[in-house]
Order: sequence, then C-alpha cells, then structure tokens
Amino acid sequence: MSRLVAVSNRISVPKRGAAPGGLAVGLLAAMQARRGMWFGWDGETAAAAADEPSIARKDGVTYASIDFDEAEYKDFYLGFCNGTLWPLFHYFIDGFRYNDEHYDAYQRMNARYARQLLPLLEPDDLIWVHDYHLFQLAQKLREGGANTPMGLFLHIPFPHIEVLRVLPVYGEILQAMLAYDVLGFQTEPDVQNFRGAVASVWGPQALTNERTVSVGGRRVITGVFPIGVDVDAIQREAIDSQNSDACKRMLAGLLGRKLMIGVDRLDYSKGLVERFKAYERFLETHPENQNRVTFLQIAPLSRSDVRAYAEIRRDLEQTTGRTNGRFADTDWTPIRYLNRNFPHDVLMGFMRSALIGIVTPVRDGMNLVAKEFAAAQDPADPGVLILSTMAGAARELASAVMVNPYDSRGMAHAIQLAFNMPLAERRERHQAMLEVLHKNSINAWHTSFVDTLESVVGRQPALKLRAG
Ligand code: G6P
Repeated sequence: MSRLVAVSNRISVPKRGAAPGGLAVGLLAAMQARRGMWFGWDGETAAAAADEPSIARKDGVTYASIDFDEAEYKDFYLGFCNGTLWPLFHYFIDGFRYNDEHYDAYQRMNARYARQLLPLLEPDDLIWVHDYHLFQLAQKLREGGANTPMGLFLHIPFPHIEVLRVLPVYGEILQAMLAYDVLGFQTEPDVQNFRGAVASVWGPQALTNERTVSVGGRRVITGVFPIGVDVDAIQREAIDSQNSDACKRMLAGLLGRKLMIGVDRLDYSKGLVERFKAYERFLETHPENQNRVTFLQIAPLSRSDVRAYAEIRRDLEQTTGRTNGRFADTDWTPIRYLNRNFPHDVLMGFMRSALIGIVTPVRDGMNLVAKEFAAAQDPADPGVLILSTMAGAARELASAVMVNPYDSRGMAHAIQLAFNMPLAERRERHQAMLEVLHKNSINAWHTSFVDTLESVVGRQPALKLRAG
C-alpha cells in the first residue's frame, strides 16, 4: 500500500496531554492506516528558519515540521494567505488587499515547502495537500522532479469567477492548481465555481466531462468530498466530559437557565457581530425570555496580527458590552463571551448541555462546529441547530433551522422558535441530521479522497501547462 503524505500549512505535532481536534483525528487515521507522514508548519516563528524539518514519530505517523522566519510569517501567512486569499475566497472584496511582495512571498514559500519535502519523498507516495496556503505546491514539486499522484483539498469556499478575477494573479493560481491530479472541494457550488473559472480561462472544451478538466494534455479529477465528523467518538466525548469539572462549573453557573452556545475562531467570516445583534433583538422582542437563557460564545483569538481581526474583536467587545449593560441582572449575564479555547471533549460536553447551537457564518467552506453540535446531542432530548445558509454544512444539514445571517429579525425569530421547539420536532430534525452525519463521516471523507488519489497511479503524463 502506498504511503500517504499529508501536507498542510499548519500541522498539529502531538503534545503530551493535548488531544487533537476532529480534522487532525481524521487525517491521522488515514495516515496511520498507511504509515503516513504529515508535513507543515509547527506554528512557531524564528529569526531565521531552520534548513531542515524537524522529525518526530508517534503511533506510526512521521511528523516533519518547519518553522517560519519573521518575513515569511508576515508576507506569506498574514499577507497573501490571510490578507488576500482568505477574504477574497470568503467574498469579502472590501477587506481584500493585494500586493506583489506578498505574492512573491507566497511563491517562495510554496517553493520552500517543495524543496524541504522533496528529499523526504518515496517513489510511490500519495501526496494529499490541504487548503489555500499551498495552491502552488504540486507545481513546485513537479518542477523539482516529483511525479507521484498529488491531490489538493480546499477547506474554504472556491469563489465564482466574477469574484476570483479581482485577484491580479488568479490565472497563475488556477494554472498551478492544474498541476494536481485531484482537486477536492467541500460542496457542489465550489466545484462548479472552479470549473467555471477553468472554462473562462481555457474555454469550455477544457471541461472534458462532469468529473474532469483537461488542459495542456493533463487530466485533472474534480470532485466534492464534504468533510465530516466521527459521530460515535463525539458522542463518547460529550457523555464522558459532562462529568468534568469544566462542564459542571459551566452548568452550575447557568442557575437552571437554558443555554445557547456558539463556538468559532474569532474571524469576521463567522458572522459573530450579526449573531450578537440578533440575540439582542431576540431579548428585546421577546422580553419574556430575559433571564431565562444564557448565550455562551467561545471565540478563541485567531490571526490577531491581521488588522481586520483586531477590528472584529473591538466590534464584538462593544456589542457584548452594550447587550450585557442593557439587559443583565445582578445574577444574570446575557452573553458570556470568552476569548479562549477549551479541550475538544469539554466543548462537546458544553454542546450536549445546550438547548441551542448557533452557527451563523456569513460565508464558510463547511463548518465542522455545526456537525459537531448535532453529533454531540442526546438523541432522546436533542438541542436545536440554528444554521446559516451561507455555510457549506447547510447543503447537508437541511433539517437545521436555517437562517440568513444578515437578517437579524429572522435570526431573532429562529432563536425564539428553537427555544420553544417541542421535543418531537427536535428529535425528528436531529435524527435526519444524524443520518447524514453517519453517511458523510470523517472516515468517508478521507477514504474517498485517498481512493480517488490512488486511482490516478500511473495514469498521469507530467506535461507542462500553458495558459490560454
Ligand atoms: C481554517 C482553514 C485552515 C486553518 C484554520 C486555522 O479552518 O481552512 O486551513 O488551519 O482555519 O487557521 P490558522 O490561520 O490559525 O491556521
């Protein structure tokens, strides 16, 4: 069986006592099955980056980690990845910034990943690359002589060509993507947006069939691989951690009130300001619910060196302060807003204790929190998921209470509906979600992607691509 090499911008190197999150667990399972290797950034910056990756091994998986120097962190990670690609691919054209130095750093960094990965590769490896940080990695690896199957899975949305073309180098990015053999997306609209972009650059004849695109003699498989969760593992975590100190303290603090929970990285794409405003409106228009519900929003800080992230943090602090100042009582804080993270199992315990899970991004590739919330519920007395139609997860979790995150009246109404939903309806909606979650599990995700990657073994001509 071929070895599986996973490459992502950030990897989670195993640490004593720290449990990896859902995605890492899924990837690790795929790598363990194939004596795999995980290559990427360890999250550290140094004055000068080391020449060689550091290698660690655990449970049959090799971890090869690199660090970034200050300029790489600033120009590649903060600059092109999170100042250019992230906002644009989430349709934040106003927040998008482009500059040539950042793009140069992106190209250099993709080349460095390739340079440091190449000596570690074995001839029959399957290479599975993750996300927007590494669109050009396959191209750089092939320039360095690698000719093994390579796939890219994009965790975030792929925008429509009318948005993509705002990026001055979009043609180069598309061309680089075609050096992969398999391009995987979260949802059907994402794959169609990608295919539409290919057709607009190379003509409709490039769309050879429903599953492939062909340019310059290379045939690339395009497909939808919705990322999922491990329902049984989440159930176990949620049940076990209800007895943890963290869960008991959180529950005791509710003083018998109902809980609404949100868990998101602090990111402007998550719709947090809109969500907080909708909750304020709910308290205002349904005063009978004041002092009967607590909204716990867990929002660990993220990318705080990017200006837009500092701005959203300020906005949220203001909104929380206003709502709490307006409605709080001596023994009730309407919004508990925490900029910190909790271990995964504790989060699952919190979710199981909640009557409402609120997941309202203004744009999201999938949103695993929505799936985790549904998976963590007690099937006999499940909570209600309020879900934005702008999340990839909305395509699968059709029985959630759907909202438009920009419609605060609609969201306030949805909170009221969820708050009063009869048990029979909660069970019915939850059951329908569970079926989808079991079908599109994390296991199904990595198995189907890796099988597709394996299907191209020996079939790809290594041709150079030409635009137009
Ligand atoms: C999103 C991206 C991932 C990224 C994660 C955390 O989910 O799709 O690629 O790793 O956010 O972001 P960070 O910038 O902290 O790695």
